[in-house]
Amino acid sequence: MKVLLTGANGQLGRCFQDRLPAGWQIMATDTDTLDITDAARVDQTVADFQPDLIVNAAAYTAVDKAESDAARAALINAVGPENLARAAQRARARFVHISTDYVFDGTSSTPYVETDPTHPLGVYGATKLDGERAVMRVYPESIIIRTAWVFSEYGSNFVKTMLRLAAERDQLSIVDDQRGCPTYAGDIAQAIITLAGEKPAEGVYHFCGDREVSWKEFTDEILACAARLNLLASLPRVKGIGTDQYPTAAQRPGYSTLSCEKIARYGIRPSDWAGALDSCMAKIA
Ligand SMILES: NC(=O)c1ccc[n+]([C@@H]2O[C@H](COP(=O)([O-])OP(=O)(O)OC[C@H]3O[C@@H](n4cnc5c(N)ncnc54)[C@H](OP(=O)(O)O)[C@@H]3O)[C@@H](O)[C@H]2O)c1
Repeated sequence: MKVLLTGANGQLGRCFQDRLPAGWQIMATDTDTLDITDAARVDQTVADFQPDLIVNAAAYTAVDKAESDAARAALINAVGPENLARAAQRARARFVHISTDYVFDGTSSTPYVETDPTHPLGVYGATKLDGERAVMRVYPESIIIRTAWVFSEYGSNFVKTMLRLAAERDQLSIVDDQRGCPTYAGDIAQAIITLAGEKPAEGVYHFCGDREVSWKEFTDEILACAARLNLLASLPRVKGIGTDQYPTAAQRPGYSTLSCEKIARYGIRPSDWAGALDSCMAKIA
């Protein structure tokens, strides 16, 4: 299997490379070596390498910054995936693209299924939804995996932010009225590898953690894990606050749990995020 990976330096990109099955050959690219917004470069790279599989782990993920940088977010989250999908279609390669729970508005009270109506609340979610639509328009055989609340030992993410803040402060005030499922990036990588081997598996899939929490509850578990691993000299008090007490540029869905029933057909279990948290935090330490 020859795999072309984009966004190789991101959380998912790094975890994917760590889990590459034996015998797979990879061309791991980052912004410098393959800017996915450059259609000619994407076409040339795919034509030269002739991959069997293209995995797009590249994205504009700065949710709040996207509100004032909409053109750039659209270029990376919508035009880039379209470029890759078109090149994959020409090369007859499988294409796996990653999307987000932020395509939903969070008004549901039951886990979102793949066919639920989308309604992004901000620029990031809207550009990711445009990317999904572009991919399916130009190459309907593509696989799109929507995931949520991604953390890993790599890059910047909520777990690392909480560890940093916990080392600096006596008290943390964390949003307690937004609920979702944390997802370990290594488990997303494994799901991609499994799904890429299935035929036909095209379409949209949801994949996230196996247990729903609020950001405050997630923080409690991160700090409990930090205590078990002896990572902090002292633990801060964690106070739950409402979204209205933590204004951000982008509005976020209040509820974004994704149903993982469809992807389970392929034997792919939801991310055991609490189990992954221990090993991930040991690596961060
Ligand atoms: N993080 C989350 O909580 C979350 C939640 C739901 C869904 N997702 C989705 O999951 C996927 C993986 O996210 P992640 O957390 O691994 O993201 P990440 O850590 O932010 O990595 C994204 C990578 O994309 C690269 N990139 C940006 N613009 C590019 C371009 N024009 N060409 C090529 N590469 C480019 C970035 O490189 P530079 O740093 O060099 O710009 C970065 O290495 C994304 O599709 C994201 O939308 C993430």
